[in-house]
Amino acid sequence: PAIKSSLIDPDGGALVDLVVPEGERAAKVSEAEGLPKVKLTKVDVEWVHVVSEGWASPLRGFMREDEYLQSLHFNSLRMEDGKVVNMSLPIVLAIDDGTKESIGSAKDVALLGPDGDVIAILRSIEIYKHNKEERIARTWGTTAPGLPYVEESITQAGNWLIGGDLEVLKPIKYNDGLDHYRLSPKELRKEFDKRGADAVFAFQLRNPVHNGHALLMNDTRRRLLDMGYKNPILLLHPLGGFVKADDVPLDVRMEQHSKVLEDKVLDPETTIVAIFPSPMHYAGPTEVQWHAKARINAGANFYIVGRDPAGMGHPVEKRDLYDPDHGKKVLSMAPGLEKLNILPFRVAAYDTVAKKMAFFDPSRAQDFLFISGTKMRTFAKTGENPPDGFMCPGGWKVLVKYYESLQTE
Ligand code: ADX
Repeated sequence: PAIKSSLIDPDGGALVDLVVPEGERAAKVSEAEGLPKVKLTKVDVEWVHVVSEGWASPLRGFMREDEYLQSLHFNSLRMEDGKVVNMSLPIVLAIDDGTKESIGSAKDVALLGPDGDVIAILRSIEIYKHNKEERIARTWGTTAPGLPYVEESITQAGNWLIGGDLEVLKPIKYNDGLDHYRLSPKELRKEFDKRGADAVFAFQLRNPVHNGHALLMNDTRRRLLDMGYKNPILLLHPLGGFVKADDVPLDVRMEQHSKVLEDKVLDPETTIVAIFPSPMHYAGPTEVQWHAKARINAGANFYIVGRDPAGMGHPVEKRDLYDPDHGKKVLSMAPGLEKLNILPFRVAAYDTVAKKMAFFDPSRAQDFLFISGTKMRTFAKTGENPPDGFMCPGGWKVLVKYYESLQTE
């Protein structure tokens, strides 16, 4: 019997699930063999995964032109009933001139994984121009060279976009030993219900967990209990798709996160660790809306946001690409995210007097130490320990081992 769920409704009311039922697979696979083929990149497959499980609900495939324009210009999509859902990143599939020609006037195409296996059918397709400069400028607010996602996925991509409805022939798996962490929104909702969660607070991250991150999460839990919630559950939700070359790889991060739970920096009883399959854009305030929206679909009604979410250093200038406060400000006002409770946090840094991570106090700025990713890498490389209280020893060890392995390469 279905448990009555009190979780937040997914965008559009019902969770999208585009994986074809097992009984229909064989017929669809043989149908796909007769269709024009589009070969996907690794990042394209990550988007197929994301859309197929309903993270982007109510989106049902790669965007057609009207959806692309709404996403690009309004950061949202208008549904038939007039309601607006947030959708700040265009989820699109690029093809080149040759592929466009081979598709001709076909209505449906087969999508092939990088190894050549059929993974999906795209139905009732529409092909339109891929104006890369415009897409990049509007998504990132700059066309400066060196944007990681642009270099990975846009610069070399074709001059056309192909939209349509997705039918995915079987669940996307990576066989990297981490698939059991890749819970779909449906599976996460089931888990939250099973645990009787009366609030779910999500924490998006792409970096190892330091005690500053933990401060945000533990402070949120305390606030939720103060508000009267009895059983708030934390979704610790590392991003699992494409990340830039100098970010810590997913397998190392997962090991690090396990240590953080083992060392009880976070409470394992009230935390669920799962992988968010999206690739990373590093598009700051524009992207953080996507990060939050996707977690509504997974059942989260609270979303933690701190300093410079989804941000990075400017690729050619010596400054942050985005104002570090804009992510949380934008999120608190974003169209289509009204039903999500945003929990904005000040920046946390190492308090050299209290010898722990704490919220930055500008009245005694000189007491605080900012430990950036670059500084962490330098510590680990030179075998120096970060100050006591920055990260749990078990978690730090995992990072040292990783950075050592880089040096011997
Ligand atoms: S992100 O790309 O996933 O946003 P990261 O893993 O660094 O990057 O951050 C995860 C979350 O923690 C984001 O909400 C971010 O704003 C927040 N955060 C990271 N570092 C700090 C910090 N020192 N102080 C406050 N918030 C932080």
